[in-house]
Amino acid sequence: MAANGTPKDESDSDASPAFAGPPLTTRQGQPVSENQHSRTVGNRGPATLENYHLLEKIAHFDRERIPERVVHARGAGAHGYFEAYGTVGDVPISTYTRARLLQENGKRTPLFVRFSTVVHGGHSPESLRDPRGFAVKFYTEDGNWDLVGNNLQVFFIRDAMKFPDLVHAFKPDPVTNRQDANRIFDFVSLSPSAMHMVTFLFSPWGIPQDYRHMRGSGVHAYKWVNEAGHAVLVKYHWIPSQPEVNLTQAQADAIQSTNFNHATQDLYDAIESGNFPEWELRVQIIEDHAHPELDFDPLDPTKVWPPEQFPLRPIGKMVLNRNPVNYFAEVEQVAFGTGVLVDGLDFSDDKLLQGRTFSYSDTQRYRVGPNYLQLPINAPKVQVNTNQRDGAMTYHVDALGQGANPHVNYEPTSRGGSQEQSKGAPAHEPAYEARLVRSAIDRTNDYGQAGDRFRAFEDWERDELVSNLVGALAQCNPDIQERMVGHFSQCDSNYGRRVAEGLGLTVNGVAAVPATVAATS
Ligand code: HEM
Repeated sequence: MAANGTPKDESDSDASPAFAGPPLTTRQGQPVSENQHSRTVGNRGPATLENYHLLEKIAHFDRERIPERVVHARGAGAHGYFEAYGTVGDVPISTYTRARLLQENGKRTPLFVRFSTVVHGGHSPESLRDPRGFAVKFYTEDGNWDLVGNNLQVFFIRDAMKFPDLVHAFKPDPVTNRQDANRIFDFVSLSPSAMHMVTFLFSPWGIPQDYRHMRGSGVHAYKWVNEAGHAVLVKYHWIPSQPEVNLTQAQADAIQSTNFNHATQDLYDAIESGNFPEWELRVQIIEDHAHPELDFDPLDPTKVWPPEQFPLRPIGKMVLNRNPVNYFAEVEQVAFGTGVLVDGLDFSDDKLLQGRTFSYSDTQRYRVGPNYLQLPINAPKVQVNTNQRDGAMTYHVDALGQGANPHVNYEPTSRGGSQEQSKGAPAHEPAYEARLVRSAIDRTNDYGQAGDRFRAFEDWERDELVSNLVGALAQCNPDIQERMVGHFSQCDSNYGRRVAEGLGLTVNGVAAVPATVAATS
């Protein structure tokens, strides 16, 4: 049978194709006239080793996969644009930041977004309880800006030292290759900083309906810097124009029984049909200092800045209006990082943020390769002039075509190489006077906001939270159950009581009577 489905005999390998389309070639550009049969000694074989087309085809196939992301392996992406409002509420945005992409009302910046789940592999179900990643790459006139966040507003830990432990506990057991509630809650029950995130995660927020119907958040405090070099602390929130919809466990189970790609499908189909999803970018702003008047540290990524105290103020909107042409080239190879900022945006002193900033580019040099920033999906849409040269998969040399001297790959130079630019506005130069220490922050307050969150949920959300936690903790050892009930009781006495009752523990959580274990996995 020929590729077009018509019968084909041995003599017709150069027959004209029945369908219109560009000529098939090898990667070397030679036309391919035989794509059905290997070259063989007689038609029964054996095949011969000089079959260049066959060997190239198989060899490329053998190398189709790169390492998947160590976390957030399953994702979906789309292109779109950001449109600035030029203001923060009623105030010109220049009051706070000189970032050029944000200054003018109506100014558009192209962007690429990747949404993801965290724990499991590249083709795992999208209906699992898991934080959702929400990563945005803005291709600005001053180079790229990445905002790499999640849908839950907070995080489990506040020190990058704990990230590999956290992820190992949530990933499958290294012996059985199964995710194990005992491993997860062993770690969590000894990590009180996780209580706020766990309260979000086991509520319906832990399974948003799909990517279009969820919010995003930068989680960390970042800084904005204005023309005078003055900085404020800022938190980012993406609020969908689509309704925010989260699922019960039963609803998620029903979806998963028929479709494990539902969120990818929903995003792709919506954009393909012209129903472009939108989010408004809103910010919270506070002065850049320790804020001793608060019962939490504003740099603590396990905390929200209460919106009634620090209102969310709109600064622009994002529209996703174009699907990727190739999943691998765009969604798989896109590389986001928290170190990718433009002038007017800055890091805060959040120590988790510094750990992340090392991790992203480091893993991408391994996952995609040292020249990952030359790939079209990652390359900024402005001229790049570095003196970096060579390395695996070098695709082009920076600055050629700009009249630059190709002999010069160093600086300073008087021979036509790239030159340092004069400083624009004054740099933000915070002063420090502190001891170098290894120590927790002062205002950990691990239970306060988790309790607030428990009380703020609607009744059905609280019911789901308790039932989901009881379902997961029923699989855990009694000591772990007791520790978790102890934590929940400190968040809110009803929280602890309800989980304890569900597990069959006594109300004060001390004398444990384990419930009948109803394993769900
Ligand atoms: C110290 C803490 C953290 C470390 C070390 C870390 C590390 C990583 C690594 C290694 C990746 C894979 C990147 C790649 O292969 O391209 C990743 C992906 C990601 N992380 Fe983190 N992460 C941390 C905390 C967080 C937090 C707090 C958030 C949310 C605010 C977050 C959001 C994401 C997202 C959205 C992705 C997927 C990006 C994409 O779609 O390509 N991470 N992280």
